[in-house]
Amino acid sequence: RIAGPCSMVMFGVTGDLARTKLMPAIYDLANRGLLPPGFSLVGFARREWADQDFAKVVHDSVRAHARTEFREEVWRSLAEGFRFVPGAFDDPDAFDLLARTVRELDDRRGTGGNHAFYLSIPPAWFAPVCERLQASGLSDPRPGTWRRVVIEKPFGHDLESAQELNAIVEGVFPPDSVFRIDHYLGKETVQNLLALRFANQMFEPIWNSHYVDHVQITMAEDIGIGGRAGYYDEVGAARDVIQNHLLQLLALTAMEPPVAFTADAVRAEKEKVLASVRLPDDLDEATARGRYAEGWQGDVRVPGYLDEDGVDPGSTTETYAAVRLGVHTRRWAGVPFYLRAGKRLGKRVTEIAVVLKRAPHLPFTDTATEELGQNAVVIRVQPDEGVTMRFGSKVPGSQMEVRDVTMDFGYGASFTESSPEAYERLILDVLLGEPPLFPRHEEVELSWKILDPVIEHWARAGTPPPDYAAGTWGPDSAHELMARDGRTWRLP
Ligand code: BG6
Repeated sequence: RIAGPCSMVMFGVTGDLARTKLMPAIYDLANRGLLPPGFSLVGFARREWADQDFAKVVHDSVRAHARTEFREEVWRSLAEGFRFVPGAFDDPDAFDLLARTVRELDDRRGTGGNHAFYLSIPPAWFAPVCERLQASGLSDPRPGTWRRVVIEKPFGHDLESAQELNAIVEGVFPPDSVFRIDHYLGKETVQNLLALRFANQMFEPIWNSHYVDHVQITMAEDIGIGGRAGYYDEVGAARDVIQNHLLQLLALTAMEPPVAFTADAVRAEKEKVLASVRLPDDLDEATARGRYAEGWQGDVRVPGYLDEDGVDPGSTTETYAAVRLGVHTRRWAGVPFYLRAGKRLGKRVTEIAVVLKRAPHLPFTDTATEELGQNAVVIRVQPDEGVTMRFGSKVPGSQMEVRDVTMDFGYGASFTESSPEAYERLILDVLLGEPPLFPRHEEVELSWKILDPVIEHWARAGTPPPDYAAGTWGPDSAHELMARDGRTWRLP
């Protein structure tokens, strides 16, 4: 579907996300013919740029990061709708200029008076920008038009700050106009989890505590924190990705079937799961944290976290976090969900492994039960997108020996269609006004409620997290967490 007439105002156009993801995604949408004629993009930042300077920045980012081929005619017609407004995020005069610019575009380019405001800015500015949008009249739609606001995570720092933020944002924009971006929900493989579970007959019958032994959700990155110390050192792995991406993956894995793929139905089911997630009582046993030390990534020597530019020497921030959670519902009673995320691990991989119980009895004397792994369904979120099933198979020969084999579905081999980048899908959904992939404030707050006690527990300890060498699979305590339960982490 093609978006209807509209414009987008982007706050924070000088940031990394805008440069590497958002602007290229907008170009890719234009290139695929999914943006309306007259679509306009207004950049807002504290730079003394003219419209042409802004266009140059977008141009460079598109050339470096767009997924689709560069076509001069698409670029030229898109760039005609670029404007830049210089100013600080709390400067009333800059917002007046913004309001005039947006209205001028409405008249000149036929944007229909519909405006999306994309806040790709540090979270401390979310509330002031919403308030300024309101004061300058930009947040009020005229009859027959819409206003939408898009906010990037983190949505708060803990439950209390999330509640405050949600109250401010939703005090300016009604809840159905607030689009909170969790870019994992825009990934093809994450959406496919719903198709896998609910468009088939073979998975749902085993998707419960009768057959599932446990679930492992892994988000491993090989990169360090790069130039993001200013953000990351305040946040850490649990807040950065478990509170949002990993708990969303858990919700999609564990939720009951929604009656329809509508925003209300999907979000209501996810909320039920998040509301039933419980932490074990002993947080020392059920959690692990770590911090990467100097080590090797392939044959490159990489520095430890404390040696990264901008990290506080007294930092106690974790770059690895693991936690065991329970989902207290009839379907999942007694099935542990293990979540782990870390920077500078062995390789970049995100996956959800649903590991099944062992067969209750093996009639073959040539195979010892322990030699066989457990059956598993592994949703390979990235980078090698697909689904793997692991099961036992007879080894060719005269004996009845059974060994683990895998059966793979890979996107590349099965589809000729290419996957849009997550941000492409999500930006288009904002312009179309399609909210199913955007978490409501209830989900955000439920996720903080789950994680706050873990973060507080670590903060109370006051000690730095144990080290793990860069390029390995995390601290010893994470392996001990699994070993105590008689299990091991998968080696993806
Ligand atoms: C972001 C985190 O949300 O996700 C980053 O803030 C992380 O720390 C990134 O690197 C990973 O995204 P992806 O899509 O590369 O898995």
